[in-house]
Amino acid sequence: MAEPQEAVKPQYDISIIRPEMRAEDFKLRGEGFSPERLAAIRKGLRTLHTLELMAQTIYKFQLTKERNEMNGMLVAAMCNEMGHYQDFQVKLYEYGFRPSLLRAAYWMVGFAFGFGSRLLGKNAILKTGVWVESKAVHHYAELLETIEWDDETRKVIEKDQADEDGHINRWKGLLETA
Ligand SMILES: [Fe+2]
Ligand SMILES: [Fe+2]
Repeated sequence: MAEPQEAVKPQYDISIIRPEMRAEDFKLRGEGFSPERLAAIRKGLRTLHTLELMAQTIYKFQLTKERNEMNGMLVAAMCNEMGHYQDFQVKLYEYGFRPSLLRAAYWMVGFAFGFGSRLLGKNAILKTGVWVESKAVHHYAELLETIEWDDETRKVIEKDQADEDGHINRWKGLLETA
């Protein structure tokens, strides 16, 4: 039943929280691209980079000192988002772009969501995670669909989107046992 979907969407190993990057994986990009294509890529990478700052900040502030399963999973999710943030920062500079200065505002939003949900307890933490990650998956889908990425950047975006999907499933699973 799931087979036609698998043929369309490549599968990524989301148990790899931080994929390896070797020296030869880094390169300068965008040579020969049209100005329109470059402008779209720049906007997309800045958006993704900013959203990943928000995501890692949410998880950071949801974490408590308590030794429990959820905190362990939140640390893994935070690490995952830090990796995504790195992914897009690297791609921005490979293209010769710079991150958005406005991302500081998204740190504040991440703090508000993260710390706010932590004050409200476990259910609020998990529901915030599901809500934010669902938005992210849709956002990723839109950017994958509308922007003409280079193949390597596209694979990174697809892997990161698969990770976000994994986060949704993890938080949903914990909500069911709560
Ligand atoms: Fe992410
Ligand atoms: Fe995520």
